[in-house]
Amino acid sequence: MSFVVAIDGPAGAGKGTITKLVGEKLGLVNIDTGATFRCVALNMIQEHIDIQEEDKIEKMLTKINIEMHPDGKIFLNGEDVTHRIRENDVNNLVSPVSVLPVVRSKLLEVQRNIAEGKNVIMEGRDIGTVVFPDADVKIYLDATAEERARRRVLQNQEKGIESSYEEVLAGIKDRDKRDSTREIAPLKKAEDAIYVDSTNLSVEQVVEKIIKIIEETRKKEGQGK
Ligand code: DC
Repeated sequence: MSFVVAIDGPAGAGKGTITKLVGEKLGLVNIDTGATFRCVALNMIQEHIDIQEEDKIEKMLTKINIEMHPDGKIFLNGEDVTHRIRENDVNNLVSPVSVLPVVRSKLLEVQRNIAEGKNVIMEGRDIGTVVFPDADVKIYLDATAEERARRRVLQNQEKGIESSYEEVLAGIKDRDKRDSTREIAPLKKAEDAIYVDSTNLSVEQVVEKIIKIIEETRKKEGQGK
């Protein structure tokens, strides 16, 4: 039996950092579902396919191969794209691509296959609502748009990228709107998810809080068997 922890929430809430740390501490395989959407967007860029060309996208998806290695590396059709999928052209294309029904249904299959038979911590937007509605633990990780923008500007600075707070904030609000108002699998808190607001918490505090929630569930499930 596998154990599934679902971490959903908006862009910049800290899902990536938190999921990685909690996964390492508890021995859970870390799966970043946003990376699968990023691989589709990158494959479209590589094959010069436009967002309107649904037939071509559908055909491309029949051949796509996405692998997530235990060391965190991501491979698209055999090529290491771990860093490439974080570049600006992919950032700009991924949100509109993630709205396409053909893409969502293909990636649902890919994401479930990647998790098959493993104990996982999976982050995304619709893990607790659509991908694994029966997940053992569901967390909705949030922070105010202003705090998320502040964190993103700091991250950019660390990478040597200059960015204006106002522009980053506008980008985050725009993505929030698109991710939460789309028709299929919109970003929303599952009814049975635990809401964690990280606005005024450090990374360590969030990690501690989430580990506590997971361990309590594991204890209860252990007692139930
Ligand atoms: O988490 P991220 O920024 O890498 O996600 C990239 C995009 O993919 C984001 O705009 C929303 C989309 N996404 C999604 O629709 N469903 C998921 N489970 C994960 C990401």
